[in-house]
Amino acid sequence: MSSVQTIEVHTAPAYEVTIGAGLRRDCGARLKAVLGGCRIAVAADSNVAPLYLETVCASLRDAGFAVCSYVFPAGEAHKNFTTLSAILEFLAESQLTRTDCVAALGGGVTGDLAGFAAGCYLRGVRVIQIPTTLLAMIDSSVGGKTGVDLTAGKNLAGVFWQPAAVVADTALLSTLEPSVLADGMAEAVKYGMIADDALFASIERGEPVTADMIFACVDCKRRLVEADERDTGARQLLNFGHSFGHAIEKASGYAVGHGAAVAAGMVVACRLSETI
Ligand code: GLY
Repeated sequence: MSSVQTIEVHTAPAYEVTIGAGLRRDCGARLKAVLGGCRIAVAADSNVAPLYLETVCASLRDAGFAVCSYVFPAGEAHKNFTTLSAILEFLAESQLTRTDCVAALGGGVTGDLAGFAAGCYLRGVRVIQIPTTLLAMIDSSVGGKTGVDLTAGKNLAGVFWQPAAVVADTALLSTLEPSVLADGMAEAVKYGMIADDALFASIERGEPVTADMIFACVDCKRRLVEADERDTGARQLLNFGHSFGHAIEKASGYAVGHGAAVAAGMVVACRLSETI
């Protein structure tokens, strides 16, 4: 395996984000030190499950965890109380206890849904984030925002629930559709614009996504989340482009992806700011 980088996020509780190629095969051993012995319920959507669920579950089992898994339909349209309720019922049927753990294997929708389920099941069990998209690796898996969409709008119900660990396998990025990678790049551009000139310049030069770029984004997020865990001050910088972006997503019936909508939202926010 190539080199592995870690970032410690000092929230309550603190946790480590581990970034490296091939980590999906190695996640069990790495998580053992964090979780001890417990059961893990892995939640994945119908796109990700056929690709990575068995590998991740095998790694967890090899490390001695008892593992069960739940697969739900893919897509933002399913980030709702119906899917949340189905996940919660699965956790109860599987008799997960307070000392057990949920693992979110997938993109932003999966992280939000499984994180929310973990945050409210038995009034809170631990959650591990195993992001599989660029967007989830650099943004949604870190910082503890979880939730579902309501008819009235995106992410309108949820809880802050920090993960016990984040394990990002950068090898998965080479398998992403260009549009899904572009979705994540929009969030990388956001970090560049709000906090990291060097990152922005490297994106402008058209440099490819690297583990170092992911590290820079996560480290930027870490700083803002540590400064303002509950999103009432400094963290709101991370919402750059998101007010317009969420409106675009909703107006499109979630046909426009989150990153594409945020990209457009950042342009609208910049243009608006020029007029003020
Ligand atoms: N995605 C923005 C935040 O986590 O605050």
